[in-house]
Amino acid sequence: MSGHSLPVVPSSGFKFTKEHLVVAVPVAVVAAAGGFLVSHYLRAGSCKKGQVNTSISKDSPKVVHSFDMEDIGTKAVYCRCWKSKKFPYCDGSHAKHNEETGDNTGPLIIKKRDA
Ligand code: FES
Repeated sequence: MSGHSLPVVPSSGFKFTKEHLVVAVPVAVVAAAGGFLVSHYLRAGSCKKGQVNTSISKDSPKVVHSFDMEDIGTKAVYCRCWKSKKFPYCDGSHAKHNEETGDNTGPLIIKKRDA
């Protein structure tokens, strides 16, 4: 024996028992499930899973563009990836999207046969 005594740790008198586990585990499970559901609900409100349009005219119930054939000219290139800053026209943003996601999107090209 060295003669040194161990420091005295004050005790709160609390003892963790099996009965505490019976209460603590279900409470923790319910809290975790509730947290998951709340975060899932909050995320769903801002952008629902599976949406392809993440930024264009989101205040509109439907994004529709219409063009007369006579006004198209000899060639028009339309975006189908929903990432173009010039939507509905393609600005080449699909290339970055494809590179980042492994997707294979590309534009719709309409042209006169001789163009
Ligand atoms: S930018 Fe969307 S298809 Fe080209």
